[in-house]
Amino acid sequence: MAEVLIVDSQDEAGAIVAREIADLLKDKPDAVLGVATGSTPLAVYRALEQLIKDEGIDVSQVRAFALDEYVEIDPNHPESYRSVIHREVTERLGLNPEYVLVPGQNATSLATAGQEYDAAIEAAGGVDVQILGIGRTGHIGFNEPGSSLASGTRIKTLAAATRRDNARFFDSEDEVPIHCITQGIGTILKARHLFLLAFGESKADALAASIEGPVTASCTGSAIQLHPRATVIADEAAAAKFDNAEYYRFAAANKPDWQGL
Ligand code: PGA
Repeated sequence: MAEVLIVDSQDEAGAIVAREIADLLKDKPDAVLGVATGSTPLAVYRALEQLIKDEGIDVSQVRAFALDEYVEIDPNHPESYRSVIHREVTERLGLNPEYVLVPGQNATSLATAGQEYDAAIEAAGGVDVQILGIGRTGHIGFNEPGSSLASGTRIKTLAAATRRDNARFFDSEDEVPIHCITQGIGTILKARHLFLLAFGESKADALAASIEGPVTASCTGSAIQLHPRATVIADEAAAAKFDNAEYYRFAAANKPDWQGL
């Protein structure tokens, strides 16, 4: 069972995750972060940027791996995930660009890119903290319905609903790429600590299905139930469809002091 925290704002969620990551970086300066794009993780990156500055945290050895990337896009396009991660993570946090990798980057071919990416994550020692958002299709990464729960990084076709949601970053929906390369569910589950964040009512159905519904490839967010250390942080709107919200609040309010996230 994942731990579920219901918070008042995205900033509150961002502060919780940033604190956890900052403490990790102090203990382990060469920690490996799993980073996500989209609107959801921005509050984490902003809060972490501040902690790094305020507490003088050395990030020169930190490594980061992105969750996913579009296929049919120029890597220099401002909305490629390589560009987004560079802006929002590498530059904002002051990471060494050579230590930040996006799926498909430096790959010898598209056919082998997924395996190469998973091998690079393993060679770095595995992901310590993985930040996840969730799509309306229930996807984590770009693992659309029907993705194997044992999948590694590979090429996937985006769902129509995902392309519609991401059209806001492009001039039109037609410009949203059709294919992506995404960490698989098996890849994500290897990370040592998962943080799944969800904000807004458009995420409520997918979040409730993921946390309280059956574990199923039809809603890949449900794979989080298989992970021994997963922290779910939702605002009130995203938490609105939970059956067990009262219990989550009670458990959070009565958590033993010595128990971390
Ligand atoms: P969002 O996307 O953070 O922009 O809402 C999340 C996702 O599609 O996984």
